[in-house]
Amino acid sequence: MTSRPILACAAWPYANGPRHIGHVSGFGLPCDMFARYQRMCGNAVLMVSGTDEHGTPIQVQADAEGVPARELADRYNRVIAEDLAGLDMSYDLFTRTTTRNHYAVVQEMFRGLYANGYIFTRTSMGAVSPSTGRTLPDRYIEGTCPICGFENARGDQCDNCGNQLDPIDLINPRSKINGETPVFVETEQFFLDLPAFAEVLGSWLQSKSGLWRPNVLKFSLNLLGDLQPRAITRDLDWGVPIPLDGWRDLPDKRIYVWFDAVIGYLSASIEWARRSGEPDAWRAWWQSPDADAYYFMGKDNIVFHAEIWPAMLLGYSGKGARNGTPGALGELNLPFEVVSSEFLTMEGRKFSSSRAVVIYVRDFLSRYDVDALRYYVAVAGPETQDTDFTWTEFVRRNNDELVANWGNLVNRAVSFAARNIGEIPAAGQLTDADRTLLDRSRAAFATVGDALGRCRFKAASTEAMRTLAEANKYLSDQAPWKLRESDPDRMRTILHVALQLVDDGKTLLTPFLPRSSQRVFEMLGGTGQWSGLPRVDEVAEEGGFSYPVITGDYRTAARWASAPIRPGTRLTPPTPLFAKLPPSVAAEELARLEAG
Ligand code: MF3
Ligand code: ZN
Repeated sequence: MTSRPILACAAWPYANGPRHIGHVSGFGLPCDMFARYQRMCGNAVLMVSGTDEHGTPIQVQADAEGVPARELADRYNRVIAEDLAGLDMSYDLFTRTTTRNHYAVVQEMFRGLYANGYIFTRTSMGAVSPSTGRTLPDRYIEGTCPICGFENARGDQCDNCGNQLDPIDLINPRSKINGETPVFVETEQFFLDLPAFAEVLGSWLQSKSGLWRPNVLKFSLNLLGDLQPRAITRDLDWGVPIPLDGWRDLPDKRIYVWFDAVIGYLSASIEWARRSGEPDAWRAWWQSPDADAYYFMGKDNIVFHAEIWPAMLLGYSGKGARNGTPGALGELNLPFEVVSSEFLTMEGRKFSSSRAVVIYVRDFLSRYDVDALRYYVAVAGPETQDTDFTWTEFVRRNNDELVANWGNLVNRAVSFAARNIGEIPAAGQLTDADRTLLDRSRAAFATVGDALGRCRFKAASTEAMRTLAEANKYLSDQAPWKLRESDPDRMRTILHVALQLVDDGKTLLTPFLPRSSQRVFEMLGGTGQWSGLPRVDEVAEEGGFSYPVITGDYRTAARWASAPIRPGTRLTPPTPLFAKLPPSVAAEELARLEAG
């Protein structure tokens, strides 16, 4: 297989609070599993993301906490970077949207789209406070959602149904500052000419049939039915300035947060290249025809990744109905796949920080193994339908599957071989049962790999665990402990086969369980890095600032294939791979949840 550039893009979390496991099960962990698998196939992976730090979501929280937006973003950028590194997310670069580089790339995209005629100004209705006569930014307006009837929808978005709104759409709009009813007056904004991309977006989406998850494709195709020009600036002071004369110095006009955030994938790639000392290296992932870009997110993000971002890329490249010429960066690739998850709920309720229906990443990791969470998300995450997280199910998956199946196989095979032989034994004559199991394991690389390559994490992890359950059964059936005296040669052969399955198992599970796979690698005599873990570095920005980034060196010898174990390798009795959780955990966590 030849090596392909694979861009792995994880949606950018808002820097307005710590992330909970509902967030990371949608945009985060699936992207990491995919990236790790692709690296093991020998592909050149670039995985990028960062915190999303502009606009209303940040400003609202900053106001609530009584701090400037920038200070809030600084604080949560750091918290989120640490949480995501704690989940072993193997970003090549996790950065943020408040860097100079990001501003420059956003402004370049804006100018390129403008030069090609895909951005124009138009007057629309903006809210004004009748008592002061001043502009009332979207974030200060609340009202009833015209789509779902939720009474506390914000001017920019309804948190109940997830739809994007305009303040003027709200029923009974009111100012959050003093409750008065805003008046709507004309204000000039820039619009992205989405209808100019209807045709090219349509044929692009059609070509994805059978490849994308059906829900995602259906949703995206539906959006095409009603393409309207979309406002990409706001009356707001927190965001990227508009890079045009007469506009750039206006204090209250900024580029809309979603327009800037999606450009982060590109700006982060450019920042990564610069930091690696090869400023043009990003082009391999954005411009070469054999590069594939995968975008991972929750379903409320589909419109931005399957419609608006592709339109921006096309317009910048000069490929909409108005044609044009590529901007200074050159032509840019469209997404290859938009991989969206559905929503995770928590014990039957929506995750909600304000109502304390929540478990934050860092609290989770302070009590449980990171691989227990990663496993749960792979096998029981909201991959293609809304899914409920329950503590009972978490404990059950951990105890009955991770501990009783995989952990048990590792422990039984390695302990017994270590105590009775002290090293990996060679195999003698193989029986049918031996061969069947070894063949089954080799075949799993094809089936599990195929599922991973198509982002079917549930199928992939389930199939890997099924193979290991068979290995466990094999070990029980063959009962090598009964052959110590009577047939030591046969005992050694059985253990050889079982240890080969342990070795294969750790390879098959590496995308899901990087940390415990590294341990199994070492148990079987491996040295050095099997699955790379990320680190948080502090990097300098011009002007004396510094900020944390997640990065890492993920180069390893790990390959997606069964590799023959080496007889004679020393073995020592291992400690358990995973902790068994007492059943009381579920009750304790539920009590925490109730106590809020
Ligand atoms: N911050 C957004 C959210 O949490 C996601 C932004 S993804 C990006 O829903 F690509 F636009 F950055
Ligand atoms: Zn709504």
